[in-house]
Amino acid sequence: MPTLDSSKTGHPEPVTNWPLRVRAPKPQSGTAIRTIRIGLLGLGQVGQAVARLAADRAATAQAGIRFQVEQALVRDLAKARGCPKPGRLTDNATAFLRGTYDVVIEVLDTVEPARTLVARLLGRGTAVVTANKALVAEHGAQLDSIAASRGAAFRYEATALAAVPFLGTLADRPLVASVDRVLAIVNGTSNYLLTSLAQPGITFDQALKGAQALGYAEPNAARDLDGLDAADKLVLLTSIFGWGRLSREALDVSGIRSVTADDLAAARSLGGTIKPIVSAERDASGVRAFVGPAFLAATEPLASLGGALNGIRLDGRHITNLFFSGPGAGPDVTAVTLLDDAIQAAAALHPALRPGAGPKRSAGLRLGPAPERSVFPASPATPWFLRVTCPGVLPAATAIAPLVAAAGLPVERVADYANANSRWLLIGPQGRRAVDGAIETLAATHRIDAVGFRRL
Ligand SMILES: NC(=O)c1ccc[n+]([C@@H]2O[C@H](COP(=O)([O-])OP(=O)(O)OC[C@H]3O[C@@H](n4cnc5c(N)ncnc54)[C@H](OP(=O)(O)O)[C@@H]3O)[C@@H](O)[C@H]2O)c1
Repeated sequence: MPTLDSSKTGHPEPVTNWPLRVRAPKPQSGTAIRTIRIGLLGLGQVGQAVARLAADRAATAQAGIRFQVEQALVRDLAKARGCPKPGRLTDNATAFLRGTYDVVIEVLDTVEPARTLVARLLGRGTAVVTANKALVAEHGAQLDSIAASRGAAFRYEATALAAVPFLGTLADRPLVASVDRVLAIVNGTSNYLLTSLAQPGITFDQALKGAQALGYAEPNAARDLDGLDAADKLVLLTSIFGWGRLSREALDVSGIRSVTADDLAAARSLGGTIKPIVSAERDASGVRAFVGPAFLAATEPLASLGGALNGIRLDGRHITNLFFSGPGAGPDVTAVTLLDDAIQAAAALHPALRPGAGPKRSAGLRLGPAPERSVFPASPATPWFLRVTCPGVLPAATAIAPLVAAAGLPVERVADYANANSRWLLIGPQGRRAVDGAIETLAATHRIDAVGFRRL
């Protein structure tokens, strides 16, 4: 077998001549470190983490980069901050806009003034990187088109699965990115809670208090627990994939508050678990989507993600079972994605920063055509995992199945697992309306309480 450099002798050299000699230009010693001037919109949890990492010369020198935080915009100048001081701190948006930046990192916590400021910056050709999912979900298409018209980079890898940099990977691969099915865990707080609830003897309230103590859940965790944060992220993801903008009103959303430790134990006895899922699929007939806790077989990759991990599984015309996972949020990991995005954005302006000599990257990250179009997702028909409870009495397995079937649900199996007054059943594919109707019938005619979770 020839080595890579057998040209000198004209004869192949034996394979034992290791290491290979490869003809390649020597790397330049002492490559110039370039400085990227950063403007920071917001210096809260994520903003401070960005400022800390930006100041970590050892971390950034490896990338041949130095960050200089020129100015940061905040609401309250007097607040204590746990990060190096930026060149200037201001509470005046006009003063911030007068600054000169290679890249502005937007980490405000509201849509306004973020939308106005980002539109102004992109409009004057300044690159913007953001972690603000509400901003991108509501105004991403408009901001993308401003960025494209001015040749400015607009990147938002940190908005969905903040520390799982999969969008950038797909942006370079349009065939892979033609996705028709998205199945994901996008809310780390909910995943952490359900993982904790699977531990013996833990109640939902105890799991929530533990998550709050560790900083995984906000003091007011309603948006996480009720599926609203996950719904925002699903709207954002499908929009990035070019499906159009899912109507939030039409989206079938349920939260995780109804899941109990016994539900998780029953799911385990059937070879599965319950995870906080967002799911969307599209075909010629339209889009079907839901957000909510769902029973997953243990063989599904998402079922193995414990704690606050996030993950996403993508299927499309050209790929199946493409799976990414990692930490979903947290200031420090989000800062890594933001500064990587900032390097990419700066590279569009300074080719010397770009690794390799490939064609110029597109200004932004959008994977599909800019979607202004509204899409009304239908609630899908799926199999279900049903908990039935008869107050004060354990329903006999042989008696409960006919009652559930008579209420209109196709019973596939009654689990062996039971507690004092509940049993769990596997139900065949049904739409939500049929399941809700059957639950009402069971309550009205037999005083049986039932709670249904989708099964995937
Ligand atoms: N936390 C995470 O792990 C995470 C992960 C991914 C994405 N994100 C997203 O990143 C963004 C920032 O999150 P965060 O946790 O850092 O929020 P945060 O701690 O609430 O920080 C928000 C920052 O914005 C500033 N601000 C808000 N309104 C302003 C206004 N009108 N004028 C000037 N400054 C204003 C605040 O100023 P003051 O400090 O003076 O109040 C604060 O510095 C959010 O959009 C969030 O969804 C967060």
